[in-house]
Amino acid sequence: TVLVVDFGAQYAQLIARRVREARVYSEVVPSTMPVEEMLARDPKAIILSGGPSSVYAEDAPGIDRALFEAGVPVFGMCYGFQLMAQTLGGTVDNTGRREYGGTALTVTRPGSTLFEGTPVEQSVWMSHGDACSAAPEGFAVTASTDGVPVAAFEDDERRLYGVQYHPEVMHSTHGQQVLEHFLYRGAGLRPTWTAANVVEEQVAAIRAQVGTKRAICGLSGGVDSAVAAALVNKAIGERLTCVYVDHGLMRKGESEQVEKDFVAATGVQLKVVDAEKRFLDALAGVSDPEEKRKIIGREFIRVFEQAASEIVAEAGSGEEAVEFLVQGTLYPDVVESGGGTGTANIKSHHNVGGLPEDLQFQLVEPLRKLFKDEVRMVGQELGLPEEIVHRQPFPGPGLGIRIVGEVTKERLDLLREADAIAREELTAAGLDRDIWQCPVVLLADVRSVGVQGDGRTYGHPIVLRPVSSEDAMTADWTRLPYETLARISTRITNEVAEVNRVVLDVTSKPPGTIEWE
Ligand code: XMP
Repeated sequence: TVLVVDFGAQYAQLIARRVREARVYSEVVPSTMPVEEMLARDPKAIILSGGPSSVYAEDAPGIDRALFEAGVPVFGMCYGFQLMAQTLGGTVDNTGRREYGGTALTVTRPGSTLFEGTPVEQSVWMSHGDACSAAPEGFAVTASTDGVPVAAFEDDERRLYGVQYHPEVMHSTHGQQVLEHFLYRGAGLRPTWTAANVVEEQVAAIRAQVGTKRAICGLSGGVDSAVAAALVNKAIGERLTCVYVDHGLMRKGESEQVEKDFVAATGVQLKVVDAEKRFLDALAGVSDPEEKRKIIGREFIRVFEQAASEIVAEAGSGEEAVEFLVQGTLYPDVVESGGGTGTANIKSHHNVGGLPEDLQFQLVEPLRKLFKDEVRMVGQELGLPEEIVHRQPFPGPGLGIRIVGEVTKERLDLLREADAIAREELTAAGLDRDIWQCPVVLLADVRSVGVQGDGRTYGHPIVLRPVSSEDAMTADWTRLPYETLARISTRITNEVAEVNRVVLDVTSKPPGTIEWE
């Protein structure tokens, strides 16, 4: 394991992802974790992330010197680099000048461990106030910029390395190469973390956890629950039953796809529960987004609990209750909710809309160490079809959170039509892999005037929200071709009665979230 110590910026997760892209397993830990605890995990290397602080700030997070004396290779980036410099006796100047953005880096020792095979002049991403003017003893200075005399230092003897910039962001043109040099050349690691490892490891872990008991898994049609279910199915076979709750908030064709494609690919036992009326009744009169999410989450669990007892009853006498619930929780959810250690501190609303405190199931979360792209790789490894593996994300609460206003059957039908058209056109234009997802939103409480045929209309707008993203934590709006947008707009306004306007959401995340609710 490579530990990425998080100094409180948004960079640590990204670093962990980049390390895994180099096929080396990595985990994020908070900088407040005692060094003994970090070392107890037997890390093969440690990376210190950037952070928002100045090493001179009063409450600046520090690092125990012992970390550098344990014989574990360390790589400091940005704040982590300065902390290293300061802790080991170098000089960090509080320049009061901020350097931010793309900067030209000059490699002063080509062929060094970090920079071998990379150009002498390269573009790097800087974001810092302080600057290192003298490296600690034992370090060779290997790169500099106009503003920073010591922009990288290396000590091959102690296997300690640092760079002032952010190699993990795309704007650092040779960042990944430098990171890989640290991992392979500096720390002597091999690229062995693969989807096949993950499958093998998780299957063993699931068997150990579930034993001879029964589990259920809610399938949403999305890639996460599908891959989680396929993994658990591989581990415990027919003791897993997948439950597909048709809550009436699904998109057109979704239910059929889950029933056909997924079952065909995996052979899992599937129980379909028609719960449309139940959900729509519970949602009647509600337009507050949080309230909707809570209601949907609550109803989900009730349906699961009921399904679980039916499964036991159907299995016949002597069967014990279903004890485990499989969830497709991902690593970013785990890190977000406080650090990836310990028990189920899940951000459950990402899966089903909020779990009750008195949940009667124990959770099985085989994806809680994985990023989305890794989930797709595991899905591929398990032989799931392309249509499932490359499905775009779709939220558990479904179209319920894509109708701004009260959710009714009529509105759902209308949104389903509009959404189907948008998806059809995006697919026809070959754009599915270019976008992360494209929520289609109905502004049910808004009306505007239009003219169609010879008459005045007073209809609702549909919002298109195409986004590009690497992990849904941040996103940008996708610059779709005008022709595609035009086709979608024309078709929706022609084919969906009640809609007389199509608008495009051009907001990045932050500040706008991907979903409207
Ligand atoms: P936001 O709207 O927070 O969405 O920018 C980030 C990603 O998460 C999806 N999303 C959900 N997925 N249950 C889910 O399974 C939920 O309650 C939920 N809310 C948002 C969203 O589609 C996007 O991919």
